[in-house]
Amino acid sequence: MRILSGIQSNSLLHLGNYYGAIRQFIELQHEGEALYFIANLHALTSLRDAAKARELAKETAVAFLSLGLDPKKATLFRQSDVPEVCELYWILGTVVPVSNLERAHSYKDKIARGVSADFGLFAYPVLMAADILLYDSDVVPVGKDQVQHVEFTRDWATKLNVTYVKGYDPSDPMGEKSGARGALKLPSYRVQEAAAVVPGIDGQKMSKSYGNAVELFGDEKEIKRRIMSIKTDSTPVEAPKPIEGSALYQLLKLMAPPSQFGEIDQSWRAGGKGYGDYKKVLVDFFQAAFGPARERRKQILADEGELERILADGAQRAREYAAPVISRVRRAVGL
Ligand code: ADP
Ligand code: TRP
Repeated sequence: MRILSGIQSNSLLHLGNYYGAIRQFIELQHEGEALYFIANLHALTSLRDAAKARELAKETAVAFLSLGLDPKKATLFRQSDVPEVCELYWILGTVVPVSNLERAHSYKDKIARGVSADFGLFAYPVLMAADILLYDSDVVPVGKDQVQHVEFTRDWATKLNVTYVKGYDPSDPMGEKSGARGALKLPSYRVQEAAAVVPGIDGQKMSKSYGNAVELFGDEKEIKRRIMSIKTDSTPVEAPKPIEGSALYQLLKLMAPPSQFGEIDQSWRAGGKGYGDYKKVLVDFFQAAFGPARERRKQILADEGELERILADGAQRAREYAAPVISRVRRAVGL
C-alpha cells in the first residue's frame, strides 16, 4: 500500500494540524510505503515573502522529523524538488471542469473570507490532485476539510483515463478484466475520525487564520497563556460541567494519556473542580505530549547538513516513484 500526504508550509504547525493530520501520517509510516511532502508550491498561494517561504518549508520538515517521522521508513521531501508535479498538474488541468473548481469548499471559504481570487488559489485542487496521482498513491490520509479534494482527484483521474486509455472501464480501473489499465491510479482518502475537528481556544475550529491556535513548537509561555485562556462558560466550580460544545473537554480528551482520561471525565461529569484546574492539567498534558518532540527539534536544528541530506534523499526517491507515472501519462496523451 502506498500512502501519500502533504502539508502546506505557510505557517507554523498547531494542535489541529497534529491531531487532524500529522499524527495519522506518522502512525501510517509503519503500515505501508509512505511518502510525505512539504507543500511549498501550494504555500505560494498565501505566502509572498521568499525568506519566510524558505524558513517555513524548513520548519515544517523539522516538525515532521521531531514528531516521529522516520526518514528511513518514510520518504520526506519538498514538493518543489519534484518538478514533474507541475507537468502533471498542467496535463490534468486540461480535463478538469471549471465548475468543479468553482464549487471547491476550501476555495469558496477563502473567497468568503476576503482572500483575493488568484488563478493559483483557484487551481489549487488540480496541483493537489497531481501531487496524489504522480506517485500512484493508494491511500491519502487527510483532514476532513480535504476530503472533497481527494474525491475530485478520483473524478479527474477517471476522466483522464476514460479520455485517453482505449478500452478503459471505470468499473475496472486496474484493467483486470478489460486489460486496459488506467494511466492514473485512483486513490482513496482516510480521515482520522476521532479528531476530525480540533477546536481552538475560542471554541471554533482551530486554524491559523482564526488566531485561535496553539502552536506545537511555539514559545512555552505563550502556549501556557493560550491554554489558560481557552473559552469556557460560567458553570460554577461545584456543578457538573457540560460536555457538548466544550473546547476544553475536547482538548483534554485528545491530549490526556488514555489511562488518565477516565478520571478526568468522571470528575468533569461529577463537578467539584473548576475550569482553571482543568486548564492547568491540560498544560501538563501538552508538555508531556510535546516535550520530547520539542527537545528533538533542537537537536535536528543543530545539524543543518543532515536535514538537507534527508530532504535531498527524499526528493530523489520521490522522483523515482514519479518517473514511470509521468512517462505513462505523457505517452497516453501524445507528448
Ligand atoms: P489551517 O486551518 O490552520 O489553515 P491547514 O488548512 O493548513 O490549517 O491544515 C493542514 C492540515 O491540518 C489539513 O490536513 C487539515 O485538515 C488539518 N487541520 C487543520 N486544522 C485542523 C483542525 N482544527 N482540526 C482537525 N484538522 C485540522
Ligand atoms: N491541501 C492540503 C492541506 O491544506 C495539503 C496538500 C497539498 C495535500 N497536496 C496534497 C494533502 C496532497 C494530501 C495530498 O492540508
